[in-house]
Amino acid sequence: MNIHPMQDQLRRPIHDLRISVTDRCNFRCTYCMPKEVFGDDYAFLPARELLSFGEITRLARLFVSLGVSKIRLTGGEPLMRPGLPELVAGLGAIPGVTDMGLTTNGVLLGGQAGPLYAAGLRRLNFSLDALDPELFGRMNGRGFRPGLILKHIDQAVAAGFEVKVNMVVQKDVNESEILPMAAYFKQRNIMLRFIEFMDAGNDNGWSYDKVVIKAEILERLQARYTLKPLEQHYSGEVAQRYSYLGSPAEVGFITSVSESFCAACSRARLSSDGKFYTCLFASEGFDLKKLLRSGADDASLLAAIRKVWEQRADRYSDERTEETRRRKAKIGMSYIGG
Ligand code: GTP
Ligand code: 5AD
Ligand code: SF4
Ligand code: SF4
Repeated sequence: MNIHPMQDQLRRPIHDLRISVTDRCNFRCTYCMPKEVFGDDYAFLPARELLSFGEITRLARLFVSLGVSKIRLTGGEPLMRPGLPELVAGLGAIPGVTDMGLTTNGVLLGGQAGPLYAAGLRRLNFSLDALDPELFGRMNGRGFRPGLILKHIDQAVAAGFEVKVNMVVQKDVNESEILPMAAYFKQRNIMLRFIEFMDAGNDNGWSYDKVVIKAEILERLQARYTLKPLEQHYSGEVAQRYSYLGSPAEVGFITSVSESFCAACSRARLSSDGKFYTCLFASEGFDLKKLLRSGADDASLLAAIRKVWEQRADRYSDERTEETRRRKAKIGMSYIGG
């Protein structure tokens, strides 16, 4: 139901809404929530600041009326928010929502996969950076081993979910895992996507020398496999996909650093405390919660969302340099959910 199609300053429509449901996570990935910053005394958002499921669903309905058809639930770790199946059911019931996914580290999925599927969720993206237990434990900052996550991935496939795995690749950290991860997920016919390490937030230790770009990863894969590039599923698709010769499996690359994809970026982001961001690397968001809790009607909320989107000119990754990275204060990855 796209009654009022809208475009931003670069003529990009709105298509996806990424909704963060919590800023908390049970991991402390070094590149996202380093434990030196997110320690025991870190002030996460208090419960009253979080949008309720009713508030999220109301806002999502408005975004859908402006062009959104795809919703992704994120965190922090979204499964830390109790009662998620109820939210999934509410969002899935919005006419016009054609696709809904959730991005998770997978640890807490055990008891929740069934209720989430029953509520209508069909897609799960797992974040997993290594198969080697010791390395993975170091990368997630909590010593978690990958075994349980791998089990949950298999269970999710068996339950009927469409599953992808995301691996953030960092120079001299987990490059050695590129081929083992590719082989493991190829054999299971699960799409693995290699993500170029991004300068998200302000304290994740990023520099250009720590990025392993797509071309390098592809070269390593091509030493072992014959890969064929695939057409985009749709304009604005985040990942570049390839198929393996002689296998139904696909592999993907998310190349925010070496080949940015801002030109077709149609993603809006809603933080768990109700701020609306038009870029993953934004400094500020528009406070929809404040407006909503002041008693605003749907027309006022719609007008506010439209105004923000129509003024949007974000293209951070197109313009990224060492200089922009240093100069710009950015929201954190765990706060906005990637
Ligand atoms: P699919 O719908 O399955 O394609 O999911 P997705 O790739 O859109 O979402 P996911 O949460 O799995 O994100 C994978 C990676 O892409 C993460 O590292 C995100 O931060 C990154 N990503 C997603 N959207 C954007 C974007 O608009 N800009 C940038 N720079 N990175 C993005
Ligand atoms: N660079 C690239 N990807 C990142 N993610 C988190 N931080 C970064 C970063 N700095 C990924 C997670 C997850 C997704 C939501 O974003 O691994 O798969
Ligand atoms: Fe948690 Fe995901 Fe950030 Fe790791 S990348 S700390 S799993 S939110
Ligand atoms: Fe969109 Fe910002 Fe990512 Fe570019 S950097 S693709 S504008 S979210």
